[in-house]
Amino acid sequence: MSHEIAASKKALIKALKGEKIGRAPIWLMRQAGRYLPEYRKVREQAGSFLTLCYTPELAEEVTLQPIRRYGFDASILFSDILVVPDALGQHVAFREGEGPVLDAIDHVDGLRALSLDRMPERLAPVYETVRRLKRSLPAETTLIGFAGAPWTVATYMVGGKGSPDQAAAKLWAYRAPDEFQKLIDLLTEATVRHLAAQIEAGAEVVQIFDTWAGSLPEAQFRRFCLDPVKKIVAALAARYPSVPVIGFPRGAGALSKDYFRETKIAGLGLDTGVSPLWAKNELQPMGCVQGNLDPLLLVAGGSEMRAAAKHILETLGHGPFIFNLGHGIVPQTPPDHVAELVSVVRETVL
Ligand code: CP3
Repeated sequence: MSHEIAASKKALIKALKGEKIGRAPIWLMRQAGRYLPEYRKVREQAGSFLTLCYTPELAEEVTLQPIRRYGFDASILFSDILVVPDALGQHVAFREGEGPVLDAIDHVDGLRALSLDRMPERLAPVYETVRRLKRSLPAETTLIGFAGAPWTVATYMVGGKGSPDQAAAKLWAYRAPDEFQKLIDLLTEATVRHLAAQIEAGAEVVQIFDTWAGSLPEAQFRRFCLDPVKKIVAALAARYPSVPVIGFPRGAGALSKDYFRETKIAGLGLDTGVSPLWAKNELQPMGCVQGNLDPLLLVAGGSEMRAAAKHILETLGHGPFIFNLGHGIVPQTPPDHVAELVSVVRETVL
């Protein structure tokens, strides 16, 4: 017998639709990860990070771990934004202590090796994980699917690794914008297909991670960051009008207002640098906001963490709001601090 309750009755979805629920729903970016000893055990068993992403029973298990511990309002599929370039045919590896390594593509000729055709087969195990989660999650927990935004994914594809300044992708975008646009267009289509497949498999909300949105100047931000996300949201809305999309344009600052309004996302993720009061006045009138405790306050814990969490809750909690961090949990986070944060959020009646 299914214990599923209608998506429309779940706290996280109510918040995204602007309904009052009397408390803030909470989940945390990177809630599954190395800060949890039970994650490290499964990660070791899997051998490589990508094997973990592509093995449904293991990916399901690590997705459920933080739900068992903390009872978050939402569960985010365990996967990575870089499974998309991997599925398009670019070689991706995750090296211990080094992060992702890809065979860099920094010229339009490199696009010839990529194809949308092999995506469904390569990503089938990811969609199988979503189907499993749909059956195994507690009835009240919302299942979030995700993808990287085209610009953010492109920074890794072009740079061949993470970089502090995204210089390789920016230089291609500035030197040959129409060629770079071809990569962005391919990623836009790949992202629509990847998110649609997750929704078909049971994802109830999707989040678009735009980690490097803040690195582009306004004109290129509009062209390579905002416009592709707008197309993705429109394509999903045409097929799945009731599935909310959360955008996370990290570092976009004042441009996040245009991003929120023009992309028509239901929710906007705030990074650590956004003032809650500014967000209340400038962003919340447009929809639900999500964020934005500094992940390092969660490492520090104690009264500073509690005060910061309460400030966010008191400022944003009376409008449509989801509690989260301003970026992902870091590996040195003590699991007890997460439990304490969850109780602060749960005890705050709004
Ligand atoms: O719990 C969740 O949030 C779901 C799973 C998830 C992961 N990565 C797992 C992961 C999600 C949503 C992501 C998104 C992601 N991946 C982003 C966007 C958000 C952000 O953090 O800015 C980016 C830029 C990536 C690319 C990526 N993946 C990098 C740069 C790294 C290396 C850095 C690191 O933290 O190790 C990863 C690896 C990764 N993705 C890990 C996890 C749990 C750690 C790898 C391991 O366990 O060995």
